[in-house]
Amino acid sequence: MDQFEGVPKFDIAPKVGGRVRGSKNFKDYLRSGKPEPYVHNTSGSYNDYFFINARGFENQGPCELKGTEFMIYRLLCDIEKKKQVDGDNSPLVVVDFGGGDGMSMVKLAAAFREKVKEKKAFFIVSNLAYQPDKAISRMTSFRPSEERFITDNQELVNYGRTDARELIQQSVKLSDGSQFPLKGHIDLLHERYVLQWDELADVDTIILGRNMSSYGIMLLANIDKYLKSCGASGLPEDVLKKVQMGYSNLQLIGVKKYDFGNRPSNYELFHQVKAPLEVLKDPVYEPLKITIK
Ligand SMILES: C[S@@+](CC[C@H](N)C(=O)[O-])C[C@H]1O[C@@H](n2cnc3c(N)ncnc32)[C@H](O)[C@@H]1O
Repeated sequence: MDQFEGVPKFDIAPKVGGRVRGSKNFKDYLRSGKPEPYVHNTSGSYNDYFFINARGFENQGPCELKGTEFMIYRLLCDIEKKKQVDGDNSPLVVVDFGGGDGMSMVKLAAAFREKVKEKKAFFIVSNLAYQPDKAISRMTSFRPSEERFITDNQELVNYGRTDARELIQQSVKLSDGSQFPLKGHIDLLHERYVLQWDELADVDTIILGRNMSSYGIMLLANIDKYLKSCGASGLPEDVLKKVQMGYSNLQLIGVKKYDFGNRPSNYELFHQVKAPLEVLKDPVYEPLKITIK
């Protein structure tokens, strides 16, 4: 007799076999040089609102951090501070999963320029096949000043052709020449307009969640909520289900979901135990900006 007879069975990743094959075929197809079907929203520029109905921003130059990217900056500063207090010398590891051209990551890396040069901070932008250095002007329409800023500072960012499983096998090189694995060491992971396209969203969220550091923060853009807050219809039902399953899977593996209370955000935020989250309660951050030198 089945020892689990009568115990409800919960399928954490329904019909995963076929989907694994499907996503491998898709990856192989893209990597054989075929164009990515995501021809819009590839800028990786996150200067839009972090909170729903946040106040508007005036036009932004390429050397300023605003909106979500400014929130990321503040979270990173707090992670760094907390690590220092704890005597944790590990480098700061930031990932933009499916980050397209990586505009915001280039800006953030520039804001942490000294740390990046000393190999104490790493900014990683992953894409399935797309390599922004070759395709930047084809994929996104940046203003000339933004494009110049990206090309001048792109070397501060590590671009990789990886899905979630491949990403966590990567490592970065420290100043003493040793390799530092990403596995279990990601301090902040950002995602926007990726999980909705990812056939394995429910599984990939687990892979990524498991590999966050103990200070780790995951910012996953809630596109359904965002579209609805703009008066549009949300994501198609099957897509929404897959993405939401990823969110609940994260909680099943012990990653905590942050409750935004009466100040809802365009993002879902998941975090590990030591994540510093005080800045999320700060009501005055929105109009602030920093200028990158
Ligand atoms: C629409 S772009 C989003 C770019 C950027 N995040 C933004 O919001 O501007 C989608 C990106 O997700 C990547 N992507 C799609 N499926 C993926 C997967 N399974 N794993 C990793 N990246 C994926 C694609 O390579 C593409 O670069």
